Amino acid sequence: EKGGWSSFMAKEISEEPEAVAKTILGRVDDRGTVTIPELDGLDELFLDIDRIVVIACGTASYAGAVGKYAIEKWAKVPVDVELSHEFRYREPVITPRTLVISISQSGETMDTLMAVKFARESGARTVSICNTQGATIPRESDAVVYTHAGPEVAVASTKAFVAQITALYLLALHVARVRGALSAEVIAEQAAELQAIPDKIAAVLENNDTIEQLAHWMADTRAVLFLGRHVGFPIAMEGALKLKELAYIHAEGFAAGELKHGPIALIEPGQPVFVVVPSPRGAQTIHSKVVSNIEEIRARGARIIAIAEEGDVAVLPSADEVIRIPLAGPLFEPLLSVVPLQVFAMALASAKGLDVDQPRNLAKSVTVE
Ligand code: F6R
Repeated sequence: EKGGWSSFMAKEISEEPEAVAKTILGRVDDRGTVTIPELDGLDELFLDIDRIVVIACGTASYAGAVGKYAIEKWAKVPVDVELSHEFRYREPVITPRTLVISISQSGETMDTLMAVKFARESGARTVSICNTQGATIPRESDAVVYTHAGPEVAVASTKAFVAQITALYLLALHVARVRGALSAEVIAEQAAELQAIPDKIAAVLENNDTIEQLAHWMADTRAVLFLGRHVGFPIAMEGALKLKELAYIHAEGFAAGELKHGPIALIEPGQPVFVVVPSPRGAQTIHSKVVSNIEEIRARGARIIAIAEEGDVAVLPSADEVIRIPLAGPLFEPLLSVVPLQVFAMALASAKGLDVDQPRNLAKSVTVE
């Protein structure tokens, strides 16, 4: 039931802190050791793999794209992220040392199911990340790591997305421990960062007024662009997808570094651009490069809405609006920066009088290829 909420989507976004907390539950102990009980007995497999391929569709694929940064940094295993329907219809190189991780909220997406079966038949080992107990994809996989976001009713995925990133981060830390790729101390530090996320998401959700007002002002907008870099890049893609599917507005996400390679030609006076700004406490060069991107598009008249960490003053001179997120380790920012983008798409769709739970032409679970 919707409870007091205007839509399932509004309710499900409000449940994001819980979705992350429940996904962490029972997987991090008092000393900060990360152990996913469902992966018990797979140590040899994790020691043996030389490559990970993540397969998923839509929003789940963007969770996978965020996860790649964490798996490579912590577990030090190379990762490719592929759309399920593209993976299957070519001749990907799969060996017994390939681990295929599928991500699916429903666990029934036909494109992903067929890709998992194909991966197994080709000799890969398979782990599924899924939000639905007993669904088909986990049954077809060697192991499953459940996300515990609770049932997601709105067609557009929100709380499952943050739970998927959480599960991927736990998986990355689990594999890093097994492979000895990180010290126990560093694993504990990262686990503590993850455990702090639910309260930080709750803080973001308390500050929705600016983004909701902005959505009302922008109800007539015809096109919106989203820029991000590093883990902010898949978040830009996800922000654009949410706006397309909910508000039927043409939206595109870009890697900020690609701007000068083409997309900057789209910038004309008044063009709204959301920019997911990396923390200035992380890689300095990335932060300053994104700030330069903001200045470049500002000079061409773009209307800039920056999603930036508290206290980042570098964005102030050029951004028209700044949406603040609490401080978090660089890899953890996506779990916070995606929230205002979800709220924006929902509020804009509502301002246009659209049904945010049931966007046109879409089904919650896509069971045909
Ligand atoms: C977007 C959305 C879709 C799904 C995709 C995969 O809001 O919900 O892009 O993420 O269809 O669905 P699952 O995760 O059920 O495999």
